[in-house]
Amino acid sequence: MRIHTSIASLRAVRIQAGRVAFAPTMGNLHDGHISLVHAARKHTDADTIITSIFVNRLQFGQGEDFDKYPRTFEADCERLAAAGVDHLFAPDEAEMYPQPQRYYVEPDPEHASILEGAFRPGHFRSVATVVLKLFNIVWPDVALFGKKDYQQVMVLKNMVRELALPTEVIALDTVRAADGLAQSSRNGYLSADERAEAPRLYRQLSAVAEAVRSGSRDFTRLEAAALAELERHGWKPDYLTVRRRADLQLPERLGGSLVVLAAARLGTTRLIDNIEI
Ligand code: PAJ
Repeated sequence: MRIHTSIASLRAVRIQAGRVAFAPTMGNLHDGHISLVHAARKHTDADTIITSIFVNRLQFGQGEDFDKYPRTFEADCERLAAAGVDHLFAPDEAEMYPQPQRYYVEPDPEHASILEGAFRPGHFRSVATVVLKLFNIVWPDVALFGKKDYQQVMVLKNMVRELALPTEVIALDTVRAADGLAQSSRNGYLSADERAEAPRLYRQLSAVAEAVRSGSRDFTRLEAAALAELERHGWKPDYLTVRRRADLQLPERLGGSLVVLAAARLGTTRLIDNIEI
């Protein structure tokens, strides 16, 4: 695996790379990230696999965990090389943002100001901007993202469609620990007690999903019960809600595919998860 810290170096190899599959990350890699690399190899006809590691300051709000976000570059490189990545793009901030970023991609507020966007204002504008910038550097034919960040995938798919980018976005299932907890770099913040409690988020989402699959349509009651159960065990939920998969709006009419999504704080750690119904 070759490591590129400059845009020029990556571009120089891109020209001869054939069809490229790309999986952008912020590092501190776990099995969820690695599953994107495996999917790039198995489910695309790419000649070359490119990954990036860049902790994008712009997408962290004031008081969020940018400074303490785990950085494990050496171990990440070993995992990526073992998984068969050909090129790693790992720029520093001066390379990605040589001057303060003044041009942004503005996602539709109906997509970007709800759910995560309501609790992390400006987050998706910054995600869309850095992903477009990475796409302009890597020129991927296929880009792989995890459904763990369901709203992120929705925003990026719409960005690609509306800006006619020549990249196919593929969304992959969430990789979980044996007890159901979604793999996340932020799981490392949990104490041993919190780690034991953490799978409750998945269990509550599963309970709601199961009830809806069995025919219940009283989403409000199901959501309230799940939220109460989390609160009873010391969680501070931001939301737990059944939405339409396509645009994450409220399911007003019957029919259409649904997803149940949640974000909740356990101690000082904010976890998100979702299940397609
Ligand atoms: P990061 O949180 O590092 O995640 C990188 C990719 O891995 C994302 O597509 C994310 O959805 C996926 N991922 C994370 N946990 C996963 C899991 N348990 N199972 C499957 N996939 C998982 O998401 C970002 O970085 C950033 O916003 C980024 C897109 C890189 C832009 O800065």
